[in-house]
Amino acid sequence: MTRIAVIGAGLIGRAWSIVFARAGFDVALWDNVPAAVPDARAFIAARLPELREAGLLADPPDAVLARVHPAASLAEAVSGAVHVQENGPEDAAAKQALFAELDRAAAPETVLASSTSGIPASAFTEHLPGRARCLVAHPVNPPYLVPLVELCPAPWTDPDAVARTRALMERAGQVAVTVHREVAGFVLNRLQGALLAEAFRLLAAGAISPEDLDATVKHGLGLRWSFMGPLETIDLNAPGGLADYCARYGALYAQMQREMTPMEWGPALVDRLHAARRAALAEADVPARHAWRDRRLMALAAHKTAQPE
Ligand SMILES: NC(=O)c1ccc[n+]([C@@H]2O[C@H](COP(=O)([O-])OP(=O)(O)OC[C@H]3O[C@@H](n4cnc5c(N)ncnc54)[C@H](O)[C@@H]3O)[C@@H](O)[C@H]2O)c1
Repeated sequence: MTRIAVIGAGLIGRAWSIVFARAGFDVALWDNVPAAVPDARAFIAARLPELREAGLLADPPDAVLARVHPAASLAEAVSGAVHVQENGPEDAAAKQALFAELDRAAAPETVLASSTSGIPASAFTEHLPGRARCLVAHPVNPPYLVPLVELCPAPWTDPDAVARTRALMERAGQVAVTVHREVAGFVLNRLQGALLAEAFRLLAAGAISPEDLDATVKHGLGLRWSFMGPLETIDLNAPGGLADYCARYGALYAQMQREMTPMEWGPALVDRLHAARRAALAEADVPARHAWRDRRLMALAAHKTAQPE
């Protein structure tokens, strides 16, 4: 059985364990806080029946859970692993220390990937003897429901390590995209950042209410986005395709872009928007809403899995 080492058993490490174990991989799970691994296994045990019920788990939950093995040390976790998925704290110094340890412990052919949300691989792998086998593999939370993973190599990452990670992720049922240059926030968070920046600008200007802003995305743009991207969207929105769309609407977008000047997210605006959210969803109801979100995501993931591209 192919072995994957999952390092760090927090929110993301436990979610990756589900992804790899569900796909039939043997998972060695290590965390330097002793209680974290049993906690993670309990979390995984609770999620697997829900996934099975939603049609997102081919094998019985017990069989999948049995593939997740607690490791007694980092060295034991990486021993025999083809791929290491690192999920430690989001801190460059912590990642430097962890990658130095991983590079010493793992066999030379093992790929070392970090789940970091925004620290480029070059910031924590530069001085490692094995830096050519290191890269970022950034998931979306939770990766067992949202399959996208961004592969972001450092300038010195061996293209073969990227290709092997892509193949492995695809075997695990994920959808890998490659970010060819180290850009802050990679691509997914840059796109989300562009949308949030404009949303905050419109809200600060009083152009729309917070509720109607969210409605615009969930009942408008977001419906298409679950099965096609913005380029395919505009290609299909003009008779002559993408170029025709740009010819028809390019001037309007140019005008909008001139108005999209950078803006700080000041405390007054943040407080107002936070208060609007808590008025719509009381603090006490947030956990139930998390569970609701995950059920909706499961239903959508099951729907997408059943549809041909
Ligand atoms: N939370 C998200 O939505 C999200 C999404 C994508 C990527 N990420 C990234 O994933 C990584 C993990 O985030 P998280 O949300 O799971 O954090 P978390 O705090 O839930 O988990 C981090 C875990 O790492 C463990 N840890 C710390 N030092 C360690 C070491 N030396 N060896 C082994 N384990 C160690 C901690 O005990 C903890 O269990 C971060 O880099 C984060 O940016 C998070």
